[in-house]
Amino acid sequence: MKQFLLFFSFLFFFQLLNAQRNIAIIPEPVSVRELGGIFTLKNNALVQSVSADNSADAVADILIQSLQATGYSFSKDKNAGTADFRLEVLASPDAELGNEGYKLLVTPSGINMTANSAAGLFYGVQSLLQLLPKEIESKKVVAGVNWTAPSVEITDYPRFGWRGLMFDVSRHFFTKEEVKRFIDDMVKYKYNLLHMHLTDDQGWRLEIKSLPKLTSVGAWNVKKEGRFNYFSKPAAGEPRDYGGFYTHDDIREIIAYATSRYVNVLPEIDVPGHSLAAIASYPELSCTPGADKYVVNSGEPFMVWPPGGHFYGLLDNTLCPANEKVYTFLDKVFTEVAELFPFEYIHMGGDETARNFWEKSAAIKALMQKEKLKNLDEVQSYFVKRVAKIIESKGKKVIGWDEILQGGLAPNTAVMSWQGMKGGIEAAKQKHQVVMSPTTFVYLDYMQGDAAIEPPVYASLRLNKTYEFDPLPKGVDPDYIKGGQANLWTEQVYNMRHAQYMLWPRAFAVSESVWSPASKKNWADFVKRVEKQFERLDMAETKYAPSMYDPIFKVTKSSSNLPVVTLSTEISGLDIHYSFENSFPDNFYPKYQSPLTVPKDAQFMKLITYRDGKPVGRLIVMPVMELKKRAGIK
Ligand code: ACM
Repeated sequence: MKQFLLFFSFLFFFQLLNAQRNIAIIPEPVSVRELGGIFTLKNNALVQSVSADNSADAVADILIQSLQATGYSFSKDKNAGTADFRLEVLASPDAELGNEGYKLLVTPSGINMTANSAAGLFYGVQSLLQLLPKEIESKKVVAGVNWTAPSVEITDYPRFGWRGLMFDVSRHFFTKEEVKRFIDDMVKYKYNLLHMHLTDDQGWRLEIKSLPKLTSVGAWNVKKEGRFNYFSKPAAGEPRDYGGFYTHDDIREIIAYATSRYVNVLPEIDVPGHSLAAIASYPELSCTPGADKYVVNSGEPFMVWPPGGHFYGLLDNTLCPANEKVYTFLDKVFTEVAELFPFEYIHMGGDETARNFWEKSAAIKALMQKEKLKNLDEVQSYFVKRVAKIIESKGKKVIGWDEILQGGLAPNTAVMSWQGMKGGIEAAKQKHQVVMSPTTFVYLDYMQGDAAIEPPVYASLRLNKTYEFDPLPKGVDPDYIKGGQANLWTEQVYNMRHAQYMLWPRAFAVSESVWSPASKKNWADFVKRVEKQFERLDMAETKYAPSMYDPIFKVTKSSSNLPVVTLSTEISGLDIHYSFENSFPDNFYPKYQSPLTVPKDAQFMKLITYRDGKPVGRLIVMPVMELKKRAGIK
């Protein structure tokens, strides 16, 4: 009997362990209490939705759709006495859960979800899916899987109401189907806002019926492949057939799709800078005459960014604040934008306005005299305030990048802080609403690892740094911080596979920064959960970056003028193996122990990381010339 009991307590213990291993939810919920049993999903499960306004029914449909990989049939019954899944919008709200929170109870006899809204239930479904085996992410039916979830009680709600991802659909155009896929992926991690960067120097992506040239001219450039911003100048007659745009119907379709997944869509029309596509369409909007100069940029250099200095344009890509036609133009644009996008905010851009052509413009000088503007900051501020008025006249609130603070900002205008956190802190002090999206933590266009292996971009941002993101800096009044957002700029992102590579896993880190309580964040635990999510992304055929397995280089120089390489890793438990004689290292090669002086005649350092005898990193081929450059050796 004793042995019998011992056997069962072991069995219980292993079940518990198993359950613990299976719980790897991102973003980490507010509270998870493991109950020790197992729920097994069977064919012909009954799904019950309960809500006064029928809103839970849509979530029941989403749940059933999300369980398609089981190949099972489901039935729905609103009045069932008992059900395998019960989704309820509470008649009397649970104050702890707020608008988007949920309670999820998984027991061997069924699954019960409660929330104050359908959105809360939807997030409950996302957590539930992460409790099921990874195969649930497959788009095809997977046979032979034991569809179980550990018994658990989860109480969960977001830290911030604004949990955004920005998708730059201007630098490279992404189709409406690709945008929908982007939405599918983001909601799994409880993001609720898609910011569409719709206009830039490389393309105007939104049909404006009253300004047809914006898309007949402005949506098209010359297809180039290679490294953006280093391209040759297109020849005069080269076909401009690369790009695309969204019609009003496309936008309505995207918004309907987003809305059905509880996602708001924030449109951005980026002015007065980043406006070459608009100016190529309507050259009279520029302060600088020369209609023949203006073409939609195809990635050839046209702005200069001196290190630490003021950037300037080789071509005037700004709308002219001194030209009344610009305000008439923007009134037309924002009329249609406001009609199309139901979200309460419109983003007016406002970033990186090169002013070197304004300095020389007689029209700008006349405007400064007339309006008593002391400097170009005030000219910009004059523009921003006028545009804000136009947007507000359409019944919308205004948000812009943090440059809109320069020269003074109209009240009620919200600020998206990208140049670090300081703009956001200053804006909050001035009592503006703020969304934090600083380059320092959440710029997902930056390289995720060393430039020796990553597609080249001008800056790096590793996963561990992204994970440090906290949208609420110490000492700032939380009433002014709406939340946070990560930005995926696409100058170097030519297709959806690479967009996914840039998003994941860093967008996991951001989701945890905007959803989970700050006290719940834990890097080592997060990494374990990321690895579990990688298996799910594999099943979903979503690409991700394995950069967290690759080493970090620090290079100095020895007394004999040779590079000295110090290596480290972002995550623990990795062994780095290397060679200096051009062959491919594996785990039989020397293991990195301490800083290495590069042999005098070596041409390449090759490295790869292993864990428990298996390769996990990628082969890195580091030219010794590059190491010398980093060490400052001539
Ligand atoms: C920005 O990254 N220029 C907003």
